[in-house]
Amino acid sequence: MNGPEGSAASAMIRARALGLRPRVIAIDGPAGSGKSTVGLAVAQVLDFLFFDTGAMYRAVTWAALQRGVEVADEKRVSEIAEVMEIDILPARGTNVDGRSNLVLADGVDVTDAIRRPEVDQQVSAVSAYGRVREALSRQQRRVGERYGTGRAEKPGIVMVGRDIGTVIMPHAALKVYLDAGVEERARRRRRQLLALGKAVDLAQVLADILRRDKLDSGRALSPLRVAEDAVVLDTSHMDAAAAVAQVLALVEQMAGTATGDGDGQR
Ligand code: DC
Repeated sequence: MNGPEGSAASAMIRARALGLRPRVIAIDGPAGSGKSTVGLAVAQVLDFLFFDTGAMYRAVTWAALQRGVEVADEKRVSEIAEVMEIDILPARGTNVDGRSNLVLADGVDVTDAIRRPEVDQQVSAVSAYGRVREALSRQQRRVGERYGTGRAEKPGIVMVGRDIGTVIMPHAALKVYLDAGVEERARRRRRQLLALGKAVDLAQVLADILRRDKLDSGRALSPLRVAEDAVVLDTSHMDAAAAVAQVLALVEQMAGTATGDGDGQR
């Protein structure tokens, strides 16, 4: 996308994307399916805001661990989620694992800290709590609606998570569910951890992903599932560029058929 042709193509798709109503692209899927990599690249091409909602659950988990609060202590963890100020900002440059949101928890930069294995291990439990979900969902929806209606600094938003298309932004103009075989997802996660300087056993990463899949899909509140009107993309045998191209093709298609009311309100 960097050559002159790429730029012309990018300008064209950017212009087309303005036809999305509301200008929200929801990308959901399990850990390691490529949501962040693909979502970030799509957002960059379209000049939309990239919003990794999982970072918010991670920030709450990090804060609990930091304060010595047992993750099993639902009441205290919920209180943290309700009072903590989490800012998800466009990053300066790209972080080591390719995620491009700067994450501040009560003003502290936790961008890298929230990717540590101890957060990985506890975050699914935290994200199953009703009050935590309520507090974070409210903030996510507010951001999504503001950007989706074109009232923010960027013309639109790409939101990635587990329940964006099903619960947070059910009227998103485009919903994509990214999937990949569990072994491939484990390999990707291991590469990310290696890039962070953490050498971990593939079998360990695989076990961890399987455990998180089970928790994320099996929980009672907003479990990970495919929205009825989502397009499912299996990226097992696709590199990131191919997945990005497919999502951009869907953007073109949806922008051409947009008939929404344009205000993005529910
Ligand atoms: O995408 P991730 O691995 O950073 O997400 C961390 C956890 O947060 C994951 O276990 C599920 C949860 N999550 C969620 O429940 N809803 C979202 N919209 C995003 C993440």
